[in-house]
Amino acid sequence: MLNELAKERATLKESGIVDARTLKTSHKRLAEILQPGMTVLDVGCGTGAITSGIAEMVGPNGRVIGIDNNPELIEKARQKYKNIPGLTFEIADIYNLPFYSEFDIVTSARVLQWLENPQTALHQMVKSTKHNGQVLVLDYNHTKISWEPKIPETMQSFYDAFLQWRSDAGMDNEIADHLSKMFEEYDLTNLKVTDQSETTKRSDNDFQTHITILAGVASSKGIQMVNDGTITESQRARAEGDFRKWINESAKSQTMYLLAVEGTKKSNEFKTNK
Ligand SMILES: C[S@@+](CC[C@H](N)C(=O)[O-])C[C@H]1O[C@@H](n2cnc3c(N)ncnc32)[C@H](O)[C@@H]1O
Repeated sequence: MLNELAKERATLKESGIVDARTLKTSHKRLAEILQPGMTVLDVGCGTGAITSGIAEMVGPNGRVIGIDNNPELIEKARQKYKNIPGLTFEIADIYNLPFYSEFDIVTSARVLQWLENPQTALHQMVKSTKHNGQVLVLDYNHTKISWEPKIPETMQSFYDAFLQWRSDAGMDNEIADHLSKMFEEYDLTNLKVTDQSETTKRSDNDFQTHITILAGVASSKGIQMVNDGTITESQRARAEGDFRKWINESAKSQTMYLLAVEGTKKSNEFKTNK
């Protein structure tokens, strides 16, 4: 029941921001550890923007699979990146990955934040990783986002309601800060945590793309929240309008708190079988 609610609330309706990401700008820690010839699984790959960069970096002797449970996104990825050697995209669910000890690196970026049972998902990722391979998860703590100057009160109230709406569906708004403990439960060793927080400043070329993320949330997830009775349409519309005005007139910067957590799989047996 909660599973279905999270699935419905997690569905990506607009892929613009995901399409604009690249390996080098949006999964920096992974770019540092990739080597030519590696096998890599990218779980929750969306439209494959980051995955295509992974395939380019491991080269034609490597093998990269991107999986996502949204067939439309996988179709877009297949069309767009059909000419990159060694790269394939499959429809699959993170809760039931069809791989066992196959990859040098299994990664997920910005995916576990949308799940009501991230432990089971992590277990599936560990299962898919080779002995001595690495699991690398990149995710947010949404309670630690910050803006300069403060956002309008209407948008702050919307954001608080959005986080509550997510947590009502079982999602962990603070997952970035819980990943290390989860990794330890699955016997992942050599843990390393890297701060990958995303700051956008008015002077950046791509400021508009990043600063409007929350306006996009208000116009997409916000409609779902109205339909669920969490907020009214006038609250949603006011928050979005005030926020867009704040962007035009006062916004200086936004920082989204993002961590990369990595660990090595030392055993084929797990301490915990969640
Ligand atoms: C915020 S997007 C991140 C896309 C990409 N990794 C990135 O960093 O830009 C989250 C992705 O996770 C996928 N996803 C959510 N639940 C999933 C599940 N149970 N199994 C597989 N993919 C899932 C969504 O379809 C979506 O493409």
